[in-house]
Amino acid sequence: MPQWLKNAVFYEIYPQSFYDSNDDGIGDINGITQKLDYIKGLGFNALWLNPCYLSPFMDAGYDVEDYLTVAPRYGTNDDLYNLFKEAHKRNMHVILDLVPGHTSDQHRWFLESKLPERNKYSDYYVWSKSVWEKPQGYQWVSGMSDRDGCYMLNFFNSQPALNYGFNNITDASWQMSYTDERVKATFDEILDVMRFWLDHGCDGFRVDMADSLVKNDDEKTATASLWRRARAMLDKDYPEAMIVSEWCNAPRSINMAGFHCDFLLNHYQKMTYYGFRCIEDGQNKSYFSKTAHVSAHNMLNKYLDELRQIEGKGYISVISGNHDTERISYTLDNSELRLAYTMLLTLPGVPFFYYGDEIAMRYIPQKSKEGGFHRTGSRTPMQWDRTLPNLGFSNAESSKLYLQVDDRPDAPCALQQAQDDNSLLNLVRRLNELRQQYPDLQADGSMEILVCDDKSVLCYRRGNIAVAFNPKDESAILPIAMGEKLFETGNAVSQSDYTLLGAQTAVVFKLK
Ligand code: GLC
Ligand code: CA
Repeated sequence: MPQWLKNAVFYEIYPQSFYDSNDDGIGDINGITQKLDYIKGLGFNALWLNPCYLSPFMDAGYDVEDYLTVAPRYGTNDDLYNLFKEAHKRNMHVILDLVPGHTSDQHRWFLESKLPERNKYSDYYVWSKSVWEKPQGYQWVSGMSDRDGCYMLNFFNSQPALNYGFNNITDASWQMSYTDERVKATFDEILDVMRFWLDHGCDGFRVDMADSLVKNDDEKTATASLWRRARAMLDKDYPEAMIVSEWCNAPRSINMAGFHCDFLLNHYQKMTYYGFRCIEDGQNKSYFSKTAHVSAHNMLNKYLDELRQIEGKGYISVISGNHDTERISYTLDNSELRLAYTMLLTLPGVPFFYYGDEIAMRYIPQKSKEGGFHRTGSRTPMQWDRTLPNLGFSNAESSKLYLQVDDRPDAPCALQQAQDDNSLLNLVRRLNELRQQYPDLQADGSMEILVCDDKSVLCYRRGNIAVAFNPKDESAILPIAMGEKLFETGNAVSQSDYTLLGAQTAVVFKLK
């Protein structure tokens, strides 16, 4: 287990929209490097970058054309190696996005695979027997090449599925077993991609659709066996490198497949992902809402259940949101966000913040860009400084920007929030400081529910420290007296044997 994960707190960056260092209207790698001190200053010590590889950008870079080359619009490979180096100087780690399930239809492997003549890449993708046969289940494309067959898709039409074989074979005339030598080469390629970036200073990977590799693999045992090969490689040659999966089933991802972390998401229920809100009540009422008055039970059930199953083997990663979810500020107001972030940064595991959530950047519904569709509204440029053109994101003409910045007069900005002691940004910074100061609050520390009543008071214990919440718009009684108060938002007053929690209050304190 990489030691640095014990106190890691991640910041996710959508490279298109973070900071434009060369005035061409789109964010870039050097822009991220220039902003490392900002990120570090907030107490984040690890970064996840969304795909920054060569791509036709039909799915914002999740359609990879070349796994080993940085997209020119973001800079060069050397720029990225330099980002690794500058991050390490500051004791920070950087992970990249690994997209193993599919490539772009412009990837060299696919261009070869679709040729009618047999070649090294013919079996790298999943092809049906003939162009007239579209097997049931899965998505297929037919008639787009001279090869007589349909190819399987994983997501958009531009993303053909790489071939990792099948577990349960229903038609041996075109399905290969996942143990077949012919498909073993596909995963070997992915291992080589991982080695390449790790050898250049990268610290690990967020793995896109990690559970999608082997087809007809309902229990995911075959897919897990591939990832165990990856984990064995890491344990042997890169013991400090980490992998976090987009799997959304921590017991499978961590216990079966060997990932270090798994995201808590519910994206397989529908394409609207919920991010942090997924640990909420089933009726779609956020626990943090002033007026919902719901118990935290339902919200924490899935998390606690998974936590018990993976304890000691890996970590659950709860997120503020990501590039696929609506911004968390879409459903929670500033005061509710303060409570949500207090929880996010005091739970066990490895938390992830999406850029801009520290200042409550807004979800801005708008025209789709690069396959974003409803997700585009969460991908707008970072808001640095209210007094600068384009809020400090870029010096380009605003009409040339990748996406328009939030143009409302009250658009939240990082610099102005940094100057305001009561801002959300400073709350995030304080909570990160607290987490660094007290190992009880970090990834490995235990978690025990002390109070979880049906009127929405929640208190959990992390070693010698307790964290309590009252999201309601009226005060409530916590039947525990506080020791030293370490942090509060709202107002918590200790009495002899209980604590009075004001409306919309979260408090972190030492147990007596
Ligand atoms: C993941 C990514 C998403 C992408 C999809 C296909 O869910 O987070 O952005 O579109 O995979 O690669
Ligand atoms: Ca740029």
